[in-house]
Amino acid sequence: MSIWRSAEFDDHEQVCFFSDEETGLRAIVAIHSTVRGPAGGGTRFKTYATDELAVDDALRLSRAMSYKSALAGLPIGGGKAVIIGDPGKLKTPELLMAFGRFIDRVGNVYTTGEDVGISMADVEVMNRVTRYVAGTSDGAGDPSIHTATGVLHGLRAVAEFRLNRENFDGMKVAVQGLGSVGTRVARLLHDAGARLVVADVDPEKVKMAAREFGAEPMATEDIHAASVDIFCPCALGGTISRQTVPEIRARAVAGAANNQLASPEAGEMLAERRILFAPDYVINAGGVISGLEAFQAMPGRKPAEAIPLDLRLAGIRDRLHEIFAKADEEGVPPEVMAESMAQELIGRKPARQFA
Ligand code: NAI
Repeated sequence: MSIWRSAEFDDHEQVCFFSDEETGLRAIVAIHSTVRGPAGGGTRFKTYATDELAVDDALRLSRAMSYKSALAGLPIGGGKAVIIGDPGKLKTPELLMAFGRFIDRVGNVYTTGEDVGISMADVEVMNRVTRYVAGTSDGAGDPSIHTATGVLHGLRAVAEFRLNRENFDGMKVAVQGLGSVGTRVARLLHDAGARLVVADVDPEKVKMAAREFGAEPMATEDIHAASVDIFCPCALGGTISRQTVPEIRARAVAGAANNQLASPEAGEMLAERRILFAPDYVINAGGVISGLEAFQAMPGRKPAEAIPLDLRLAGIRDRLHEIFAKADEEGVPPEVMAESMAQELIGRKPARQFA
């Protein structure tokens, strides 16, 4: 295996491999960029078919964190950690503390937190042996509240830019996934006067949304094709694909889910159909934005600039307007423009440069 030959390797600053025989821990920490500040990014705990795929995931996710923080205007770099294995079988307090000790050894250049397979409670166990964690209950807390608020700001930009609408009154939005973020987005939209169509694999969540928000339930396999103004994916990644794009009837796709585009081609297909896409790592940055104070309070870091959280979250709307306008000007999909802007913000030469 050669990291340098991986398609996901992008001149990452540092990649560390850790193992601890006693607890079965095998972990990777990838730090993509610290140009804007110490790197931040959660730890993913999952099974991988091969070790190469685990390395690729760490490399790809850490680069995405660089882009996310840069476009959110944060003085935070991009990093991510991966623990290889089935959390259901492997996860013990001893393993989490062994991992925490490794994080502590990496030191001030990286702070970790929750991600798939790692909960706030797990982060608190790591916190017994390292200060370099964010998202504990006495720190920034549950990020999904702020992620949902950020998504609403982003939806506002989408409504203004593509639908020529200044409010959500009577607007129809399809929310896919009623988890921590999706339920909150649905509630915020309902309170703002939108009409909702919803889907979740959990029928209880769908019933709750029908009862509380008057939402219309839809089958999970059809929700992307709902006849709505905006399709808002808040479940898993990869929902926008060569198969689903031709079926989308909304005029915009904008939601919290990470990695919504199954391929670059899916993004191009959306643009060809004049369906506006809000790049996921821009619209879902609310959680990272809310963690800034806790992040900056760690030893050896400069205190955060005192900009109120509401204003920082509202910045998502402005950033999306900027991306949409520049993308239109250059005739490229918004995600291509966002990536180029992010690369410039972290001092890299953009793969595609625009004026
Ligand atoms: P969650 O696990 O609480 O919710 C996901 C929901 O999607 C669950 O209710 C699940 O039943 C549902 N679901 C799963 N498969 C589905 C399908 N095929 N069709 C419809 N519903 C399905 O996760 P959370 O925290 O709400 O995150 C949602 C998405 O947003 C994820 O992609 C996550 O990576 C992303 N995200 C979350 C952030 C946060 O602050 N929680 C921050 C940034 C991104």
